[in-house]
Amino acid sequence: MIARMATTTRATNNPIPRFPDGFLWGVSTSAHQIEGAVDKREPSVWDTFTAEPGHIKDGSTAAVACDHYHRYPEDVALLRDLGVDAYRFSISWPRVNSPGGLDFYDRLVDELCTAGVRPVPTLFHWDLPASLDWMNRDTAERFAEYVAVVADRLGDRVDKWITLNEPAEHTLFGHALGAHAPGRQLLFDALPVAHHQLLAHGLAVRALRAAGATDIGIANSHGPTWPASQEPEDLEAADFYDVLLNRLFADPVLLGQYPEGIGDLMPGDVESDLKVIAEPLDWYGINYYAPTKVGAPQGADIEFGGLTMPAELPFSVREIEGHPVTDFGWPVVPEALTELLETFRDRYGDRLPPVVITENGCSYEGLEDQERISYLDGHLRALHRALEAGVDVRGYFVWSLLDNFEWAEGYARRFGLVHVDFETLERTPKASYGWLRDVLRAQG
Ligand code: BGC
Repeated sequence: MIARMATTTRATNNPIPRFPDGFLWGVSTSAHQIEGAVDKREPSVWDTFTAEPGHIKDGSTAAVACDHYHRYPEDVALLRDLGVDAYRFSISWPRVNSPGGLDFYDRLVDELCTAGVRPVPTLFHWDLPASLDWMNRDTAERFAEYVAVVADRLGDRVDKWITLNEPAEHTLFGHALGAHAPGRQLLFDALPVAHHQLLAHGLAVRALRAAGATDIGIANSHGPTWPASQEPEDLEAADFYDVLLNRLFADPVLLGQYPEGIGDLMPGDVESDLKVIAEPLDWYGINYYAPTKVGAPQGADIEFGGLTMPAELPFSVREIEGHPVTDFGWPVVPEALTELLETFRDRYGDRLPPVVITENGCSYEGLEDQERISYLDGHLRALHRALEAGVDVRGYFVWSLLDNFEWAEGYARRFGLVHVDFETLERTPKASYGWLRDVLRAQG
């Protein structure tokens, strides 16, 4: 039941073009960012990291967050009233390890099914049990065991699964730069973290298949990389960044190989691991937010998007000018989503399974969030253009249902269609919620 909501739902004058029948409309969240109830599970690397002073900008913790653990029926009612087909949430591995933890997801999945909303769980969204470490190969094996337990319990009601969320960010922010948990600053020595997550993905696909799953994907983050100029050093730096963001986690999964020169840097029997990593997928999930402009290193540390990029990196990230920016400072460039999807189609050809946009959204303050409406409106039109250009896109998930714990930014960045008052935990749908509900109704 919605007690109160923003009053305007105006978008643009033109209706959003019609998407194909069966197109999957959804919204996304993640466990650590919304659940709270940390006392009912074992700690994750994010709990440990958050407890160390200086890591979270507003000094907050995710101990309560949106208290979704207790308030999930209200949140499922919000999903039902919004009219989405599907809800992408994540399962907390530390919670599943704890007594009664899986019961929570059992209840959530039942509630979703009763509301007519399809559950789409992500099995890992950065909240690794604190006792584990992605530098160890063994963590990939442990992940597959955990996935088998979850699939056994929920597989009778869940048919669409996501193995990992954004292993690129978890590697880069968490292990190379140290801005996210577990806070390591290993730079390129963090590459085993990438390999072990990819291996975990492949082993998880096998575990899910063994449990009978037929609709499996991954959620990788991607975005066009624009060179700062056509000078050779800027082009080279941009290519390097493109490998890190767009190929390091896509080539192994889709082609069964690492980009040139990377495989030799990875631990273990890489050739045999790649066979596991490239287990065929039913669809490929892309999280898209913004393009990145990249140039040659500038000989000094650079502060960018809340991160410190050390001078020794072989590239430097630059401002993209001439576009509006979100409260996070990220440029709003909807046409870059069309560009990205066309690049993926051209790069991977028939090795690219159908695509689902598993995250897209923006941070803005306020209930009358016309900027969020324009962002989503622009990106849906850009997505439709990609469909018209022949890219096989099957679904779109907005990040996020609720304002939530935005990692190192704490509660300062609001990505929700629904406002959360973090004192009272009251939920208030924003104008963008009403707008999306109208779009979905018009889509039928
Ligand atoms: C992550 C989310 C995050 C969002 C906005 C994605 O990188 O998957 O957890 O909240 O971006 O920063």
